[in-house]
Amino acid sequence: AVSPFSRDAILSETISETAELADVDWDNLGFSYIPTDYMYVMKCTRGGSFSKGEMQRFGNIELSPSAGVLNYGQGLFEGLKAYRTEDDSILLFRPEENALRMRMGAERMCMPAPSVEQFVEAVKATVLANKRWVPPQGKGALYIRPLLMGSGAVLGLAPAPEYTFLIYAAPVGNYFKEGVAPINLIIEHELHRATPGGTGGVKTIGNYAAVLKAQSVAKAKGYTDVLYLDCVHKKYLEEVSSCNIFVVKGNTISTPAIKGTILPGITRKSMIDVARSQGFLVEERQVAVDELLDADEVFCTGTAVVVSPVGSITYKGERITYGNGGVGAVSQQLYDQLTSLQMGLTEDKMNWTVQL
Ligand code: COI
Repeated sequence: AVSPFSRDAILSETISETAELADVDWDNLGFSYIPTDYMYVMKCTRGGSFSKGEMQRFGNIELSPSAGVLNYGQGLFEGLKAYRTEDDSILLFRPEENALRMRMGAERMCMPAPSVEQFVEAVKATVLANKRWVPPQGKGALYIRPLLMGSGAVLGLAPAPEYTFLIYAAPVGNYFKEGVAPINLIIEHELHRATPGGTGGVKTIGNYAAVLKAQSVAKAKGYTDVLYLDCVHKKYLEEVSSCNIFVVKGNTISTPAIKGTILPGITRKSMIDVARSQGFLVEERQVAVDELLDADEVFCTGTAVVVSPVGSITYKGERITYGNGGVGAVSQQLYDQLTSLQMGLTEDKMNWTVQL
């Protein structure tokens, strides 16, 4: 029997697919919002569980001014990408990992969450419904943004009485304005992104609002983005506003260990396996800021940023540079390995991609 949550069940009530590509300037995609055709919406009440959602025309949603998400930040988001392959099929990258991460975050934020099956099938249905917005191979990806929010009205501080799971999507290219060129980071040593015992380890919306201040100041000074330090010792690397960080020294690649203050990136986790498969020694541990001084290369990973080489890091007025303005050999090698797998250009021995 067909599961009521399956992508076909979701789609059958909705749409007729079109083979024609949307009218987009595919050669100049950045990472900005381009509205697409459909979004997926599913609701449930506090104490209940999600049962049936539906595909709707993409558009604004209605919320009470007293909604939990607006007043108390009870919200999570996810991000994943769909790539068009040479033979015009579509590949998702590890969508069940996003589903599991949303479930972990929902537990922390006192929200009910969709099951892994509901999440993954709804993602598939959203991509198929918006298929004409998946960029041609090599031009970018369809970025899929699942949201989970307390949509019911509250006034006193409490979990909201109703929750909405929503998925929308937009075609994207490079995240940073530098494109594939190395980015320039500045280390922030006063403002912090996360605290032990806080919510840094889940993808709650407030973590991202909290970095806007330091990010705006950094951008105004010409930096691409901000690298955060731990708030206890002000000494160990945490992450960049929108991505995780890796430090290369010889054959060893180090990345800050996940200890509750760092977002457990799916690209981060995948990169660790890819680097090991390429013969690198990968260490997940505390990485001190001083180690940046004699590193060979530094790069960032994230769904949105993919693998971004770092050209310079500025710390307390000192600028450390990497790669002589170009992309380091290790960063390039790992970028090629990961992206060729995500785009279906090499065999997926890891079994990470899901074909639609
Ligand atoms: C992603 O990489 O998908 C994220 O969620 C980061 C976001 C700030 C764009």
